[in-house]
Amino acid sequence: MINNLSNLKIEAVNSSHINSLCEIEEEVNLKNPWSKRAFLDELNKDYAYYYVAKQENIILGFIGIWVVVDECHIVNLAVKKAFQKQGIASILLKKVLETIKKYNLSLITLEVRESNLAAQRLYEKFGFKKIALRKNYYSDYQEDGLIMSLSF
Ligand SMILES: CC(C)(COP(=O)(O)OP(=O)(O)OC[C@H]1O[C@@H](n2cnc3c(N)ncnc32)[C@H](O)[C@@H]1OP(=O)(O)O)[C@@H](O)C(=O)NCCC(=O)NCCS
Repeated sequence: MINNLSNLKIEAVNSSHINSLCEIEEEVNLKNPWSKRAFLDELNKDYAYYYVAKQENIILGFIGIWVVVDECHIVNLAVKKAFQKQGIASILLKKVLETIKKYNLSLITLEVRESNLAAQRLYEKFGFKKIALRKNYYSDYQEDGLIMSLSF
């Protein structure tokens, strides 16, 4: 359980965080966890922005986005299981919404597993709408992907 959300620090990801991000991935994304290489590749993209949520130097969650032309795409978002349902993903999403203000974007998009109701509820709370279905988008379990978007 998190002590106090006000102690939570949000900071840009650097290479020293990668092992912790992989641990979170292995915990929450059992079907297809991102590798260390995948995270390092992301850090080298000048259009990618990743943030971690930390408390007392322990990384509890992270979010990654791409900003391309006038659109933002949420690439990944995860919170350590023991710290879920305490508002951490919401704080990370708010950080992203704050970060992208300066880009004057028209749209944020993301894909989410059809079975992932927790994430769908979270995005809906922020005003995202389901706009399309991608058949078999998640090839690991032949699961459909919902595309959700928030327009400005
Ligand atoms: C989805 C996820 C990031 C949510 O993180 P979180 O820190 O628990 O989310 P928050 O505490 O900020 O929750 C905000 C809202 O999301 C929704 N929500 C979160 N977890 C939920 C759950 N288990 N069931 C239903 N709704 C849920 C609720 O609407 C919640 O608002 P409320 O607390 O007022 O009810 C987290 O469950 C997770 O890491 N899941 C595994 C990875 C994943 O699915 N990532 C998203 C990929 S698209």
